Amino acid sequence: MTDHPPLRTYGRIKARTLKQRQAGLVEVLLPHLAVPEAGALDLDTLFPDLPGAFSVLEIGFGGGEHLVAQAGTRPYARFIGIEPFLNGVASCLRHIEESGVQNVRLHQGDARDVLARLPDASLDRVDILFPDPWPKKRHWKRRLIQAAFVAELARVLKPGGEARFATDWANYAAWALEVFTREPSFTWLAERAGDWRSAWPGHVTTRYEQKRLGDCAPVWLRFVRHVDAPKS
Ligand SMILES: C[S@@+](CC[C@H](N)C(=O)[O-])C[C@H]1O[C@@H](n2cnc3c(N)ncnc32)[C@H](O)[C@@H]1O
Repeated sequence: MTDHPPLRTYGRIKARTLKQRQAGLVEVLLPHLAVPEAGALDLDTLFPDLPGAFSVLEIGFGGGEHLVAQAGTRPYARFIGIEPFLNGVASCLRHIEESGVQNVRLHQGDARDVLARLPDASLDRVDILFPDPWPKKRHWKRRLIQAAFVAELARVLKPGGEARFATDWANYAAWALEVFTREPSFTWLAERAGDWRSAWPGHVTTRYEQKRLGDCAPVWLRFVRHVDAPKS
């Protein structure tokens, strides 16, 4: 475990009982796809058939529809998904089984623990789509996007790598924009309003996005991790 506040749940706390098929997938398929529970993570060991491939981490994948669709369109890229709730992991396993994708690994737990175990400059992209919004001011400190978390994203992304963030809560969009732009390693990739008002090419609608529970239209923010200036 790393030094961060405990995981706080925004929505449903208790897991629904898994359906028999999903419970079977958790028992049989998950052990083959799970990220090791402890120790430094090496992506070439995790994906022995895809050494050195383009690597994407999706944080809070919900039911896994987006993660698995992305993996299906890029079979030669490596996808790691993190989600604390077992029902989401079980749903993702069902999508993996039905689609036959081979390039997804999963971790049931807190993204912050996995980030801490990843080497510097190991990922090409991190997707954070519709994270728990925590709209009440007294709960903002529970938001995933915090300065220390964004600094960790900068550490694990390769120079030129990209962090993608989407939300349909106006205050969270402004919050994320501020936290990311305060991190010296990130530059916001927006030149005109259309760049944050429309999803990036190839986006697959997520389950939460479809529900339209927020207070604004989705906001799409892309940040590139630029090359550090040489230390003098
Ligand atoms: C509002 S849901 C969105 C799910 C999905 N991305 C979508 O758009 O349908 C936010 C998800 O983030 C997950 N989550 C919350 N805290 C997390 C953390 N520390 N690490 C990884 N996932 C987290 C929640 O369990 C939840 O499934």
